[in-house]
Amino acid sequence: MKVIRSPIQLRLQVKRFRTKGETIGFVPTMGALHGGHLPLIRRARKECDRVIVSIFVNPLQFGPREDYRRYPRTFFSDVSLLQKEKVDILFFPSVKTMYPDLFSATVTVNGLSERLCGAFRPGHFQGVATACTKLFNLVQPDTVYFGGKDYQQTRIIDRLLNDFDFNIRLKVLPTVREKNGLAMSSRNRYLSSRERKKALLLSKALIAGGALIQGGEKSVLRVLSRMKSILKDPAVRVDYVSIVDPKTLEEVSRFRGKVLLAVAARIGKTRLIDNILVRGS
Ligand code: PAJ
Repeated sequence: MKVIRSPIQLRLQVKRFRTKGETIGFVPTMGALHGGHLPLIRRARKECDRVIVSIFVNPLQFGPREDYRRYPRTFFSDVSLLQKEKVDILFFPSVKTMYPDLFSATVTVNGLSERLCGAFRPGHFQGVATACTKLFNLVQPDTVYFGGKDYQQTRIIDRLLNDFDFNIRLKVLPTVREKNGLAMSSRNRYLSSRERKKALLLSKALIAGGALIQGGEKSVLRVLSRMKSILKDPAVRVDYVSIVDPKTLEEVSRFRGKVLLAVAARIGKTRLIDNILVRGS
């Protein structure tokens, strides 16, 4: 595996692949790799001739009071994991390379970015869309792989690819969970063992909500209040519990077709998100 830090080097390498007619799969990450990242990399490995993974802790997507500085950075173990997965290139740009002094453009996907997490993390999805636009232009992949754990992000990337005519296919893979249901996340490393137990309430609330809907419950309010009651705990500060249309991310007033159950909550200093898709009857 080659570790490339400079965009010029990356472009050269990509050009070499392209002249040989090879396809490129791309998995953008912020590193601190875990079991949730693996299926994305493995799927890319299976479907494409070349696999490029990026590790970039993107300052633009963190709010001023968020965890940018303490976000886990585990470069050496990430590299050995990526080598084992037979990744061809790790793109690991510096902040200065991605955002030089005069950098001033931003990419905003309106509407979708304001819902759910957008309401609690102003500027977050603009940061994601801006970084991804740059990465997509540099890597020029055939396919990008994203995880459904960050469902809103996948909807925004889908819109971005369509609206700007990127010639890139988006593949979204299911959320990877611990055996106990906790959605894997780099941020789980922050949790103490006590907090880990509390973190289970997120998936518990989603499962309970999903079960009610599948059992024929017709009232959105009743499902929401059941989910909220599970999350009611002095250690859990809920940002939102929502049931939304999976395409528009707008709140639904009744169950018809698929709905997305989504929660975001802070446990101690750690903000966690989770979601499930459920088919209403
Ligand atoms: P990061 O949190 O490192 O996640 C990289 C990719 O892994 C994302 O597509 C995310 O949805 C996926 N992922 C993380 N945990 C997962 C899990 N438990 N199950 C399935 N997929 C999971 O998301 C980002 O980085 C950044 O916002 C990025 C897209 C790189 C832009 O900076």
